[in-house]
Amino acid sequence: MAVKKVTDEVYEVGVEHWDRRLFDELIPLPDGTSYNSYIIFGRDKTALIDTVDPEKTHILLRNLEKLQVNNIDYIVANHAEQDHSGSIPKLLEIYPNAKIVTNAKAKGFLIDLLHIEEDRFIVIKEGDKLELGEKTLTFYMTPWVHWPETMSTYLLEDGILFTCDFFGAHIASSNTFSDDSDIVYEAAKRYYAEIMMPFRVAIRKNIAKVKEINPKMIAPSHGLVYRNPEFIISAYEDWVSDNVRNVTVVAYVSMHGSTEAMVNHLYNYLVESGIEVKMFNLTEADIGEYAISLVDAASLVGASPMVLGGLHPAAAFTVTLTGALRPKVKLVGIMGSYGWGGMMVDQAKSLLKTVNADFLEPLLIKGLPKEEDLKKIEKFADAIVEKHRELGLL
Ligand code: FEO
Repeated sequence: MAVKKVTDEVYEVGVEHWDRRLFDELIPLPDGTSYNSYIIFGRDKTALIDTVDPEKTHILLRNLEKLQVNNIDYIVANHAEQDHSGSIPKLLEIYPNAKIVTNAKAKGFLIDLLHIEEDRFIVIKEGDKLELGEKTLTFYMTPWVHWPETMSTYLLEDGILFTCDFFGAHIASSNTFSDDSDIVYEAAKRYYAEIMMPFRVAIRKNIAKVKEINPKMIAPSHGLVYRNPEFIISAYEDWVSDNVRNVTVVAYVSMHGSTEAMVNHLYNYLVESGIEVKMFNLTEADIGEYAISLVDAASLVGASPMVLGGLHPAAAFTVTLTGALRPKVKLVGIMGSYGWGGMMVDQAKSLLKTVNADFLEPLLIKGLPKEEDLKKIEKFADAIVEKHRELGLL
């Protein structure tokens, strides 16, 4: 909640939300999160880059008071989602001269989401500049990280690129800079997995744009400021690439042990064949950990018992999420146990249509696997091993 100095004229005045445990009512936040807001003092004008979640507006206002900010000329909205835009209506009341600086698409969202009056906006486009007096802002469109309107703002004189969600990390920290790379890497990868992964192709273009700008610092609106931008840029380059690792993710639910016996046999066979296997029991798993594992796994196996003619609801939830995340896995397998029949495989395949991978012949076993069923599981596993070999991972 403290004011953090980034440079002599740039301060981070946002909020660490230490005890937030869920984002979008979906995403677990083991390390909390932050909503970063940056104030820039030019010789003539003052600009605020992004704001904070509306429930924390009072902290942002307190931080601005601490810095004796009596006037804000520009509120730059890089992204319209409420965790960054939610304080804008209050700020417009308190700072009556302030104008919102954003692109046309974001303006539309802000009007829809926050009911802001038209005359409070200044609309900018790619490459436009805004002079603050010895401080110059340039705007670059960086869409689909994860909304279509998101942009980045570059402070020329200090070489700071403000990227909002892009390069962000769900982590609350009293530090200003991301010098503890290991902790930040994990938080940034979790953030990428849960928010950015479906847009990895679009993100490649944005990374190229950022590399061209060649900033000295990257200041996202979640997490910490990177004064070694190469660290987060190269991590992103790896995540959005087509490269996969020698990992199979096994996500399963078992009611009475039959599906569990199947995945355990699969696990042993794959591990003994030289593949790293990450197991997720979906009744207990942190779906964030599951999403992280999908960032670079080569293959995925989903296993469920047949329940009321279809997937177990916990499996259906995860399969739906997987279809939405569109991981870059190269091979998907579906397996499970049934009592008398149902449509589990069709249901799963339909939810996974968005995943651009080869699909193994599904393996359904009646009841608890018998000796001959274990052989079928080994054959199923052989196909995974073969794919990993084909990919040069084994
Ligand atoms: Fe952090 Fe898309 O908002």
